[in-house]
Amino acid sequence: KILILDFGSQYTQLIARRVRESQVYCEILPFNTDIETIREFAPRGIILSGGPSSVFAENAPFPTAQIFNLNVPILGICYGMQLIGYLEGGAVAKSALREFGRAELIIDNTEDLFADLDIIDNTCTVWMSHGDKVERLPDGFEAIAHTRNAPIAAMRNPGKQIWAIQFHPEVVHTYEGTAMLSNFVHRICGCESTWNMANFIDSKIEEIRATVGDRQVLCALSGGVDSSVAAILIHRAIGDRLTCVFVNNGLLRKNEPEAVVKTFRDHYQINLHYEDATERFLEKLSGVTDPERKRKIIGNEFIYVFEDVKRQLGSFDFLAQGTLYPDVIESVSVKGPSAVIKSHHNVGGLPENMDFELLEPFRELFKDEVRLVGLELGMPEEIVHRHPFPGPGLGIRVLGEVTKERLDVLRDADHILLEEIKMAGLYRTIWQAFAVLLPVNTVGVMGDERTYENACALRAVSSVDGMTADWSHIPYEVLGRISNRIINEVHGINRVVYDISSKPPGTIEWE
Ligand code: XMP
Repeated sequence: KILILDFGSQYTQLIARRVRESQVYCEILPFNTDIETIREFAPRGIILSGGPSSVFAENAPFPTAQIFNLNVPILGICYGMQLIGYLEGGAVAKSALREFGRAELIIDNTEDLFADLDIIDNTCTVWMSHGDKVERLPDGFEAIAHTRNAPIAAMRNPGKQIWAIQFHPEVVHTYEGTAMLSNFVHRICGCESTWNMANFIDSKIEEIRATVGDRQVLCALSGGVDSSVAAILIHRAIGDRLTCVFVNNGLLRKNEPEAVVKTFRDHYQINLHYEDATERFLEKLSGVTDPERKRKIIGNEFIYVFEDVKRQLGSFDFLAQGTLYPDVIESVSVKGPSAVIKSHHNVGGLPENMDFELLEPFRELFKDEVRLVGLELGMPEEIVHRHPFPGPGLGIRVLGEVTKERLDVLRDADHILLEEIKMAGLYRTIWQAFAVLLPVNTVGVMGDERTYENACALRAVSSVDGMTADWSHIPYEVLGRISNRIINEVHGINRVVYDISSKPPGTIEWE
Protein backbone atom coordinates (compact mmCIF):
# COMPACT_ATOMS: atom_id res chain seq x y z
CA LYS A 1 0.00 0.00 0.00
CA ILE A 2 0.92 3.60 -0.61
CA LEU A 3 0.90 6.51 1.84
CA ILE A 4 -0.04 9.99 0.67
CA LEU A 5 1.05 12.81 2.94
CA ASP A 6 -1.33 15.74 2.56
CA PHE A 7 0.07 19.25 2.42
CA GLY A 8 -3.35 20.78 1.86
CA SER A 9 -3.79 20.55 -1.91
CA GLN A 10 -7.33 20.57 -3.23
CA TYR A 11 -6.21 17.63 -5.39
CA THR A 12 -4.93 15.30 -2.66
CA GLN A 13 -8.02 13.07 -2.78
CA LEU A 14 -7.64 12.86 -6.54
CA ILE A 15 -4.13 11.45 -6.11
CA ALA A 16 -5.62 8.75 -3.89
CA ARG A 17 -8.33 7.97 -6.40
CA ARG A 18 -5.83 7.67 -9.24
CA VAL A 19 -3.59 5.35 -7.21
CA ARG A 20 -6.59 3.16 -6.40
CA GLU A 21 -7.61 3.12 -10.05
CA SER A 22 -4.19 1.52 -10.56
CA GLN A 23 -5.51 -1.17 -8.21
CA VAL A 24 -3.19 -0.27 -5.37
CA TYR A 25 -4.57 0.58 -1.93
CA CYS A 26 -3.55 3.91 -0.43
CA GLU A 27 -4.45 6.21 2.43
CA ILE A 28 -4.07 9.92 3.09
CA LEU A 29 -2.51 11.17 6.33
CA PRO A 30 -1.70 14.75 7.42
CA PHE A 31 1.76 16.06 6.48
CA ASN A 32 2.88 16.16 10.10
CA THR A 33 2.08 12.51 10.89
CA ASP A 34 4.79 11.16 13.19
CA ILE A 35 7.28 8.58 12.05
CA GLU A 36 5.98 5.83 14.36
CA THR A 37 2.54 6.03 12.76
CA ILE A 38 4.11 5.98 9.30
CA ARG A 39 6.28 2.97 10.21
CA GLU A 40 3.22 1.18 11.52
CA PHE A 41 1.37 1.90 8.28
CA ALA A 42 4.31 0.25 6.49
CA PRO A 43 3.93 1.93 3.09
CA ARG A 44 5.65 0.53 -0.01
CA GLY A 45 5.98 4.12 -1.20
CA ILE A 46 5.15 7.65 -0.11
CA ILE A 47 3.65 10.48 -2.17
CA LEU A 48 4.02 14.06 -0.97
CA SER A 49 1.03 16.05 -2.21
CA GLY A 50 0.90 19.59 -3.47
CA GLY A 51 -0.25 22.39 -1.24
CA PRO A 52 -1.04 26.08 -1.13
CA SER A 53 2.04 27.01 0.88
CA SER A 54 5.52 28.13 -0.16
CA VAL A 55 8.56 26.44 1.41
CA PHE A 56 9.66 29.96 2.35
CA ALA A 57 6.46 30.78 4.22
CA GLU A 58 6.71 31.30 7.97
CA ASN A 59 4.58 28.29 8.88
CA ALA A 60 5.47 26.19 5.86
CA PRO A 61 4.36 22.58 6.44
CA PHE A 62 7.25 20.08 6.63
CA PRO A 63 7.08 16.30 7.01
CA THR A 64 9.28 14.46 9.48
CA ALA A 65 12.77 14.19 7.96
CA GLN A 66 12.74 10.50 8.93
CA ILE A 67 10.65 9.58 5.91
CA PHE A 68 13.83 9.84 3.86
CA ASN A 69 15.40 7.06 5.96
CA LEU A 70 12.59 4.54 5.56
CA ASN A 71 14.15 3.02 2.47
CA VAL A 72 10.92 3.32 0.44
CA PRO A 73 10.47 5.32 -2.78
CA ILE A 74 9.16 8.86 -2.44
CA LEU A 75 7.35 10.92 -5.06
CA GLY A 76 6.91 14.66 -4.56
CA ILE A 77 4.20 16.46 -6.49
CA CYS A 78 4.26 20.26 -6.93
CA TYR A 79 4.78 21.59 -3.37
CA GLY A 80 6.09 18.09 -2.63
CA MET A 81 8.78 18.61 -5.29
CA GLN A 82 9.73 22.02 -3.93
CA LEU A 83 10.03 20.48 -0.48
CA ILE A 84 12.40 17.85 -1.80
CA GLY A 85 14.41 20.46 -3.72
CA TYR A 86 14.68 22.56 -0.58
CA LEU A 87 15.39 19.76 1.91
CA GLU A 88 17.93 18.05 -0.35
CA GLY A 89 19.90 21.25 -0.83
CA GLY A 90 18.88 22.38 -4.32
CA ALA A 91 17.79 25.91 -5.09
CA VAL A 92 14.10 26.70 -4.95
CA ALA A 93 13.17 30.04 -6.41
CA LYS A 94 10.41 32.11 -5.03
CA SER A 95 8.75 33.40 -8.12
CA ALA A 96 6.44 36.34 -8.39
CA LEU A 97 4.91 34.84 -11.51
CA ARG A 98 2.63 31.94 -10.82
CA GLU A 99 2.17 29.35 -13.52
CA PHE A 100 -1.33 27.96 -14.01
CA GLY A 101 -2.87 25.65 -16.51
CA ARG A 102 -1.62 23.69 -19.48
CA ALA A 103 2.03 23.26 -20.34
CA GLU A 104 3.86 21.10 -22.88
CA LEU A 105 6.05 18.63 -21.04
CA ILE A 106 9.08 17.23 -22.84
CA ILE A 107 10.30 14.02 -21.32
CA ASP A 108 14.06 13.48 -21.19
CA ASN A 109 14.20 10.10 -19.51
CA THR A 110 11.80 7.21 -20.00
CA GLU A 111 13.37 4.63 -17.71
CA ASP A 112 10.92 4.55 -14.83
CA LEU A 113 8.36 7.24 -13.98
CA PHE A 114 7.75 8.08 -17.65
CA ALA A 115 8.16 4.58 -19.10
CA ASP A 116 5.73 3.28 -21.72
CA LEU A 117 3.51 6.33 -21.90
CA ASP A 118 1.10 6.54 -24.79
CA ILE A 119 2.57 9.74 -26.22
CA ILE A 120 4.31 10.91 -29.38
CA ASP A 121 7.76 12.53 -29.51
CA ASN A 122 8.07 12.30 -25.72
CA THR A 123 5.80 15.30 -25.44
CA CYS A 124 2.53 15.59 -23.59
CA THR A 125 0.20 18.14 -22.07
CA VAL A 126 0.38 18.51 -18.31
CA TRP A 127 -1.39 20.70 -15.76
CA MET A 128 0.68 23.16 -13.76
CA SER A 129 -0.42 25.14 -10.74
CA HIS A 130 2.44 26.58 -8.73
CA GLY A 131 4.33 29.67 -7.61
CA ASP A 132 7.81 28.51 -6.57
CA LYS A 133 9.98 26.20 -8.63
CA VAL A 134 13.19 24.20 -8.36
CA GLU A 135 15.92 26.17 -10.18
CA ARG A 136 19.03 24.16 -9.35
CA LEU A 137 19.10 20.40 -8.85
CA PRO A 138 20.13 19.07 -5.45
CA ASP A 139 23.34 16.99 -5.53
CA GLY A 140 22.85 13.54 -6.98
CA PHE A 141 19.63 14.47 -8.80
CA GLU A 142 19.03 14.60 -12.53
CA ALA A 143 16.30 16.36 -14.48
CA ILE A 144 14.02 13.93 -16.31
CA ALA A 145 11.60 16.32 -18.00
CA HIS A 146 11.30 20.02 -18.84
CA THR A 147 8.86 22.60 -20.12
CA ARG A 148 9.55 25.93 -21.75
CA ASN A 149 9.17 27.73 -18.43
CA ALA A 150 10.69 25.10 -16.20
CA PRO A 151 14.00 23.47 -17.14
CA ILE A 152 13.45 21.13 -14.19
CA ALA A 153 9.81 20.01 -14.47
CA ALA A 154 10.67 16.57 -13.07
CA MET A 155 13.74 15.13 -11.34
CA ARG A 156 14.96 11.94 -9.74
CA ASN A 157 17.64 10.43 -7.59
CA PRO A 158 17.22 6.66 -7.92
CA GLY A 159 20.06 6.01 -5.45
CA LYS A 160 18.05 7.74 -2.75
CA GLN A 161 14.76 6.47 -4.20
CA ILE A 162 13.37 9.96 -4.72
CA TRP A 163 11.28 11.22 -7.67
CA ALA A 164 9.60 14.60 -8.01
CA ILE A 165 7.38 16.35 -10.51
CA GLN A 166 6.27 19.94 -10.73
CA PHE A 167 2.95 19.32 -12.48
CA HIS A 168 -0.19 17.53 -11.27
CA PRO A 169 -0.47 13.99 -12.68
CA GLU A 170 -3.73 13.43 -10.75
CA VAL A 171 -5.90 15.88 -12.70
CA VAL A 172 -7.61 14.83 -15.92
CA HIS A 173 -5.95 17.64 -17.87
CA THR A 174 -2.59 15.93 -17.48
CA TYR A 175 -2.34 13.47 -20.34
CA GLU A 176 -1.21 10.00 -19.18
CA GLY A 177 -1.04 11.28 -15.59
CA THR A 178 -2.65 8.10 -14.31
CA ALA A 179 -0.03 6.07 -16.18
CA MET A 180 2.73 8.08 -14.51
CA LEU A 181 1.27 7.41 -11.05
CA SER A 182 0.82 3.79 -12.02
CA ASN A 183 4.51 3.67 -12.99
CA PHE A 184 5.41 5.03 -9.58
CA VAL A 185 3.36 2.56 -7.59
CA HIS A 186 4.01 -0.50 -9.78
CA ARG A 187 7.43 -0.12 -11.40
CA ILE A 188 9.16 1.95 -8.76
CA CYS A 189 7.47 0.80 -5.53
CA GLY A 190 6.76 -2.74 -6.72
CA CYS A 191 3.12 -2.80 -5.59
CA GLU A 192 0.88 -5.44 -7.08
CA SER A 193 -2.60 -4.86 -8.49
CA THR A 194 -4.67 -6.34 -5.71
CA TRP A 195 -7.09 -3.53 -4.90
CA ASN A 196 -10.36 -4.19 -6.68
CA MET A 197 -13.97 -4.27 -5.59
CA ALA A 198 -14.44 -8.03 -5.92
CA ASN A 199 -11.61 -8.56 -3.43
CA PHE A 200 -12.97 -5.78 -1.27
CA ILE A 201 -16.40 -7.43 -1.12
CA ASP A 202 -14.99 -10.83 -0.22
CA SER A 203 -12.80 -9.55 2.56
CA LYS A 204 -15.43 -7.12 3.86
CA ILE A 205 -18.02 -9.88 4.11
CA GLU A 206 -15.57 -11.97 6.13
CA GLU A 207 -14.81 -9.00 8.33
CA ILE A 208 -18.48 -8.14 8.92
CA ARG A 209 -19.24 -11.76 9.86
CA ALA A 210 -16.32 -11.85 12.27
CA THR A 211 -17.23 -8.51 13.85
CA VAL A 212 -20.95 -9.07 14.17
CA GLY A 213 -20.98 -12.74 15.10
CA ASP A 214 -24.55 -13.67 16.02
CA ARG A 215 -25.50 -10.17 17.12
CA GLN A 216 -27.99 -7.78 15.50
CA VAL A 217 -27.43 -4.84 13.17
CA LEU A 218 -29.73 -1.89 12.52
CA CYS A 219 -29.31 0.20 9.38
CA ALA A 220 -30.93 3.55 8.58
CA LEU A 221 -31.73 3.25 4.90
CA SER A 222 -32.25 6.52 3.03
CA GLY A 223 -32.59 5.17 -0.49
CA GLY A 224 -29.37 6.94 -1.49
CA VAL A 225 -26.36 5.15 -2.95
CA ASP A 226 -24.25 4.76 0.18
CA SER A 227 -26.81 3.34 2.59
CA SER A 228 -28.38 1.20 -0.14
CA VAL A 229 -25.12 -0.48 -1.11
CA ALA A 230 -24.15 -0.82 2.56
CA ALA A 231 -27.46 -2.58 3.30
CA ILE A 232 -27.02 -5.05 0.44
CA LEU A 233 -23.42 -5.83 1.37
CA ILE A 234 -24.23 -6.35 5.05
CA HIS A 235 -27.25 -8.44 4.13
CA ARG A 236 -24.97 -10.68 2.06
CA ALA A 237 -22.76 -11.09 5.08
CA ILE A 238 -25.27 -11.68 7.87
CA GLY A 239 -28.71 -12.11 6.26
CA ASP A 240 -31.59 -11.72 8.68
CA ARG A 241 -29.47 -10.37 11.47
CA LEU A 242 -29.73 -7.08 9.58
CA THR A 243 -32.81 -4.89 10.02
CA CYS A 244 -33.25 -1.76 7.93
CA VAL A 245 -35.31 1.25 8.92
CA PHE A 246 -36.65 3.50 6.22
CA VAL A 247 -38.29 6.72 7.39
CA ASN A 248 -40.67 8.50 5.06
CA ASN A 249 -40.40 12.10 6.19
CA GLY A 250 -42.97 13.24 3.63
CA LEU A 251 -40.21 15.16 1.84
CA LEU A 252 -39.22 12.45 -0.64
CA ARG A 253 -39.62 12.45 -4.40
CA LYS A 254 -42.59 11.01 -6.23
CA ASN A 255 -42.94 7.21 -5.89
CA GLU A 256 -39.72 7.01 -3.88
CA PRO A 257 -41.04 5.38 -0.68
CA GLU A 258 -42.85 2.71 -2.70
CA ALA A 259 -39.74 2.04 -4.79
CA VAL A 260 -37.52 1.60 -1.73
CA VAL A 261 -39.94 -0.82 -0.09
CA LYS A 262 -40.30 -2.77 -3.32
CA THR A 263 -36.58 -3.04 -3.93
CA PHE A 264 -35.38 -3.87 -0.46
CA ARG A 265 -38.28 -5.79 1.04
CA ASP A 266 -39.75 -7.53 -1.99
CA HIS A 267 -36.72 -7.99 -4.20
CA TYR A 268 -33.83 -8.39 -1.78
CA GLN A 269 -35.97 -9.84 1.03
CA ILE A 270 -34.34 -7.69 3.65
CA ASN A 271 -36.07 -7.10 7.01
CA LEU A 272 -37.31 -3.62 6.34
CA HIS A 273 -39.23 -1.49 8.76
CA TYR A 274 -41.08 1.26 6.89
CA GLU A 275 -42.09 4.19 9.04
CA ASP A 276 -44.42 6.74 7.53
CA ALA A 277 -43.72 9.84 9.63
CA THR A 278 -45.07 12.34 7.11
CA GLU A 279 -47.56 13.87 9.54
CA ARG A 280 -44.98 14.33 12.28
CA PHE A 281 -42.58 16.17 10.00
CA LEU A 282 -45.19 18.37 8.34
CA GLU A 283 -46.64 19.37 11.68
CA LYS A 284 -43.22 20.47 12.93
CA LEU A 285 -42.56 22.38 9.71
CA SER A 286 -45.86 24.18 9.72
CA GLY A 287 -45.37 27.94 9.44
CA VAL A 288 -41.56 27.66 9.16
CA THR A 289 -39.88 29.49 6.26
CA ASP A 290 -36.26 29.96 7.34
CA PRO A 291 -34.03 27.37 5.57
CA GLU A 292 -31.68 26.79 8.47
CA ARG A 293 -34.60 26.30 10.86
CA LYS A 294 -36.13 23.83 8.44
CA ARG A 295 -32.86 21.89 8.35
CA LYS A 296 -32.65 21.76 12.15
CA ILE A 297 -36.27 20.68 12.54
CA ILE A 298 -35.99 17.95 9.90
CA GLY A 299 -32.68 16.71 11.32
CA ASN A 300 -33.96 16.59 14.89
CA GLU A 301 -37.27 15.01 13.99
CA PHE A 302 -35.43 12.27 12.14
CA ILE A 303 -33.53 11.43 15.30
CA TYR A 304 -36.73 11.33 17.40
CA VAL A 305 -38.49 9.10 14.88
CA PHE A 306 -35.49 6.81 14.61
CA GLU A 307 -35.27 6.51 18.41
CA ASP A 308 -38.98 5.64 18.60
CA VAL A 309 -38.68 2.98 15.92
CA LYS A 310 -35.60 1.53 17.54
CA ARG A 311 -37.45 1.17 20.83
CA GLN A 312 -40.25 -0.73 19.10
CA LEU A 313 -37.93 -3.07 17.27
CA GLY A 314 -36.03 -4.40 20.25
CA SER A 315 -32.32 -4.41 20.89
CA PHE A 316 -29.48 -4.02 18.45
CA ASP A 317 -25.75 -4.07 18.98
CA PHE A 318 -24.60 -2.32 15.83
CA LEU A 319 -25.67 0.65 13.77
CA ALA A 320 -24.65 0.43 10.11
CA GLN A 321 -23.76 3.64 8.34
CA GLY A 322 -22.58 4.49 4.85
CA THR A 323 -19.71 6.71 6.03
CA LEU A 324 -17.19 7.30 3.21
CA TYR A 325 -13.45 7.89 3.20
CA PRO A 326 -13.68 11.64 2.50
CA ASP A 327 -15.62 12.01 5.79
CA VAL A 328 -12.88 10.19 7.64
CA ILE A 329 -9.76 11.86 6.25
CA GLU A 330 -8.35 14.19 8.82
CA SER A 331 -8.34 17.52 7.06
CA VAL A 332 -5.18 19.58 7.11
CA SER A 333 -5.55 23.11 8.37
CA VAL A 334 -2.95 24.69 6.12
CA LYS A 335 -5.51 27.25 5.09
CA GLY A 336 -7.53 27.56 8.29
CA PRO A 337 -11.12 26.54 8.79
CA SER A 338 -13.47 27.40 5.98
CA ALA A 339 -16.72 29.21 6.66
CA VAL A 340 -19.95 27.34 7.19
CA ILE A 341 -22.27 28.19 4.31
CA LYS A 342 -25.07 25.77 5.13
CA SER A 343 -25.43 23.44 8.07
CA HIS A 344 -25.36 20.23 5.98
CA HIS A 345 -23.66 18.13 8.53
CA ASN A 346 -26.39 18.41 11.12
CA VAL A 347 -28.95 16.90 8.87
CA GLY A 348 -29.78 13.29 8.15
CA GLY A 349 -27.12 12.18 10.61
CA LEU A 350 -27.58 10.47 13.93
CA PRO A 351 -26.11 11.72 17.19
CA GLU A 352 -22.75 10.27 18.12
CA ASN A 353 -23.69 9.21 21.63
CA MET A 354 -26.13 6.47 20.66
CA ASP A 355 -25.86 3.20 22.43
CA PHE A 356 -24.40 1.30 19.47
CA GLU A 357 -21.21 0.09 18.01
CA LEU A 358 -20.82 1.53 14.53
CA LEU A 359 -20.52 -0.70 11.48
CA GLU A 360 -19.10 1.38 8.63
CA PRO A 361 -18.07 -0.92 5.78
CA PHE A 362 -17.17 1.96 3.43
CA ARG A 363 -14.96 3.98 5.74
CA GLU A 364 -12.05 3.41 3.38
CA LEU A 365 -13.90 3.92 0.07
CA PHE A 366 -14.48 6.82 -2.26
CA LYS A 367 -17.93 7.35 -3.71
CA ASP A 368 -16.99 5.97 -7.14
CA GLU A 369 -15.70 2.83 -5.42
CA VAL A 370 -18.99 2.40 -3.56
CA ARG A 371 -20.75 2.56 -6.92
CA LEU A 372 -18.44 -0.15 -8.24
CA VAL A 373 -19.21 -2.28 -5.18
CA GLY A 374 -22.92 -1.84 -5.93
CA LEU A 375 -22.48 -2.93 -9.54
CA GLU A 376 -20.28 -5.85 -8.48
CA LEU A 377 -23.07 -6.90 -6.10
CA GLY A 378 -25.46 -6.86 -9.05
CA MET A 379 -27.48 -3.86 -7.95
CA PRO A 380 -29.47 -1.96 -10.58
CA GLU A 381 -27.85 1.08 -12.24
CA GLU A 382 -30.84 3.09 -11.13
CA ILE A 383 -29.72 2.86 -7.52
CA VAL A 384 -25.99 2.80 -8.11
CA HIS A 385 -25.90 5.93 -10.26
CA ARG A 386 -28.51 7.93 -8.39
CA HIS A 387 -28.07 11.67 -8.12
CA PRO A 388 -27.29 12.91 -4.62
CA PHE A 389 -30.36 13.95 -2.65
CA PRO A 390 -30.11 16.21 0.41
CA GLY A 391 -31.16 14.92 3.84
CA PRO A 392 -33.86 17.62 4.25
CA GLY A 393 -35.21 16.57 0.86
CA LEU A 394 -37.97 18.58 -0.76
CA GLY A 395 -38.24 20.55 2.48
CA ILE A 396 -35.54 22.87 1.13
CA ARG A 397 -36.89 22.79 -2.44
CA VAL A 398 -40.34 24.06 -1.57
CA LEU A 399 -39.17 27.59 -0.88
CA GLY A 400 -40.99 29.30 1.95
CA GLU A 401 -43.58 27.35 3.88
CA VAL A 402 -43.71 23.58 3.34
CA THR A 403 -47.20 22.15 2.99
CA LYS A 404 -48.56 18.86 1.72
CA GLU A 405 -50.16 20.61 -1.27
CA ARG A 406 -47.01 22.43 -2.29
CA LEU A 407 -44.95 19.26 -1.87
CA ASP A 408 -47.31 17.40 -4.18
CA VAL A 409 -47.07 20.11 -6.83
CA LEU A 410 -43.27 20.04 -6.64
CA ARG A 411 -43.16 16.24 -6.72
CA ASP A 412 -45.10 16.18 -9.99
CA ALA A 413 -42.90 18.81 -11.64
CA ASP A 414 -39.70 17.16 -10.41
CA HIS A 415 -40.86 13.81 -11.70
CA ILE A 416 -41.40 15.19 -15.20
CA LEU A 417 -37.98 16.83 -15.17
CA LEU A 418 -36.25 13.58 -14.21
CA GLU A 419 -38.25 11.54 -16.67
CA GLU A 420 -37.31 13.81 -19.58
CA ILE A 421 -33.66 14.02 -18.52
CA LYS A 422 -33.47 10.23 -18.44
CA MET A 423 -35.27 9.90 -21.75
CA ALA A 424 -32.80 12.32 -23.35
CA GLY A 425 -29.91 10.17 -22.06
CA LEU A 426 -28.58 13.01 -19.91
CA TYR A 427 -29.05 11.59 -16.42
CA ARG A 428 -25.57 10.12 -16.07
CA THR A 429 -23.74 13.24 -17.29
CA ILE A 430 -25.57 15.47 -14.84
CA TRP A 431 -24.52 15.62 -11.19
CA GLN A 432 -27.93 16.64 -9.88
CA ALA A 433 -31.17 17.71 -11.55
CA PHE A 434 -34.27 18.82 -9.69
CA ALA A 435 -37.16 21.25 -9.61
CA VAL A 436 -37.66 24.02 -7.06
CA LEU A 437 -41.06 25.45 -6.19
CA LEU A 438 -40.82 29.22 -5.89
CA PRO A 439 -42.90 31.19 -3.39
CA VAL A 440 -44.04 33.42 -6.22
CA ASN A 441 -47.27 33.52 -8.18
CA THR A 442 -47.20 34.72 -11.76
CA VAL A 443 -49.88 35.60 -14.28
CA GLY A 444 -50.50 33.36 -17.24
CA VAL A 445 -53.16 32.55 -19.76
CA MET A 446 -54.55 29.07 -20.42
CA GLY A 447 -57.32 28.76 -22.96
CA ASP A 448 -59.07 32.06 -22.58
CA GLU A 449 -58.60 32.11 -18.84
CA ARG A 450 -56.25 34.24 -16.84
CA THR A 451 -54.22 32.11 -14.42
CA TYR A 452 -52.32 33.19 -11.32
CA GLU A 453 -50.19 30.28 -10.21
CA ASN A 454 -46.75 29.19 -8.99
CA ALA A 455 -43.49 29.59 -10.84
CA CYS A 456 -41.11 26.66 -10.78
CA ALA A 457 -37.35 26.67 -11.36
CA LEU A 458 -35.36 23.85 -12.92
CA ARG A 459 -31.83 23.23 -11.68
CA ALA A 460 -29.30 20.91 -13.28
CA VAL A 461 -25.57 21.08 -12.64
CA SER A 462 -22.37 19.33 -13.57
CA SER A 463 -19.85 18.81 -10.79
CA VAL A 464 -17.26 16.34 -9.56
CA ASP A 465 -17.77 16.62 -5.84
CA GLY A 466 -20.55 19.16 -5.23
CA MET A 467 -18.00 21.72 -3.99
CA THR A 468 -18.04 23.63 -7.25
CA ALA A 469 -20.60 23.27 -10.00
CA ASP A 470 -21.62 24.67 -13.34
CA TRP A 471 -25.13 24.76 -14.76
CA SER A 472 -25.74 21.99 -17.26
CA HIS A 473 -26.06 22.95 -20.90
CA ILE A 474 -29.24 20.98 -21.47
CA PRO A 475 -30.39 21.27 -25.10
CA TYR A 476 -33.15 23.85 -25.64
CA GLU A 477 -35.40 21.18 -27.09
CA VAL A 478 -35.24 19.14 -23.90
CA LEU A 479 -35.79 22.22 -21.73
CA GLY A 480 -38.73 23.13 -23.95
CA ARG A 481 -40.30 19.71 -23.57
CA ILE A 482 -39.89 19.76 -19.80
CA SER A 483 -41.43 23.22 -19.54
CA ASN A 484 -44.35 22.31 -21.78
CA ARG A 485 -45.12 19.16 -19.90
CA ILE A 486 -44.89 20.76 -16.47
CA ILE A 487 -47.16 23.67 -17.37
CA ASN A 488 -49.68 21.38 -19.05
CA GLU A 489 -49.63 18.46 -16.65
CA VAL A 490 -49.01 19.97 -13.23
CA HIS A 491 -51.90 21.83 -11.70
CA GLY A 492 -50.65 24.86 -9.86
CA ILE A 493 -47.64 25.76 -12.05
CA ASN A 494 -47.94 28.17 -14.97
CA ARG A 495 -44.33 29.26 -15.49
CA VAL A 496 -40.99 27.47 -15.68
CA VAL A 497 -37.53 29.09 -15.50
CA TYR A 498 -34.04 27.57 -15.83
CA ASP A 499 -31.37 28.42 -13.27
CA ILE A 500 -28.06 29.35 -14.94
CA SER A 501 -26.00 30.20 -11.86
CA SER A 502 -22.72 28.46 -11.18
CA LYS A 503 -21.35 27.52 -7.75
CA PRO A 504 -19.69 29.63 -6.50
CA PRO A 505 -21.17 32.19 -6.18
CA GLY A 506 -24.51 30.35 -6.19
CA THR A 507 -25.09 27.08 -4.37
CA ILE A 508 -26.60 23.96 -5.89
CA GLU A 509 -29.73 24.04 -3.74
CA TRP A 510 -31.79 27.22 -3.52
CA GLU A 511 -32.11 27.17 0.27
P1 XMP B 1 -25.10 23.32 -1.96
O1 XMP B 1 -26.53 23.74 -2.05
O2 XMP B 1 -24.46 23.69 -0.66
O3 XMP B 1 -25.13 21.73 -2.03
O4 XMP B 1 -24.29 23.79 -3.14
C1 XMP B 1 -24.00 20.91 -2.19
C2 XMP B 1 -24.47 19.48 -2.11
O5 XMP B 1 -24.97 19.19 -0.81
C3 XMP B 1 -26.34 18.82 -0.87
N1 XMP B 1 -27.01 19.44 0.27
C4 XMP B 1 -27.33 18.79 1.41
N2 XMP B 1 -27.16 17.49 1.76
N3 XMP B 1 -28.16 17.95 3.86
C5 XMP B 1 -27.60 17.09 2.98
O6 XMP B 1 -27.50 15.91 3.32
C6 XMP B 1 -28.36 19.27 3.58
O7 XMP B 1 -28.87 20.04 4.41
C7 XMP B 1 -27.91 19.71 2.28
N4 XMP B 1 -27.94 20.91 1.66
C8 XMP B 1 -27.37 20.72 0.43
C9 XMP B 1 -26.83 19.34 -2.19
O8 XMP B 1 -27.96 18.59 -2.65
C10 XMP B 1 -25.61 19.16 -3.05
O9 XMP B 1 -25.47 17.82 -3.47
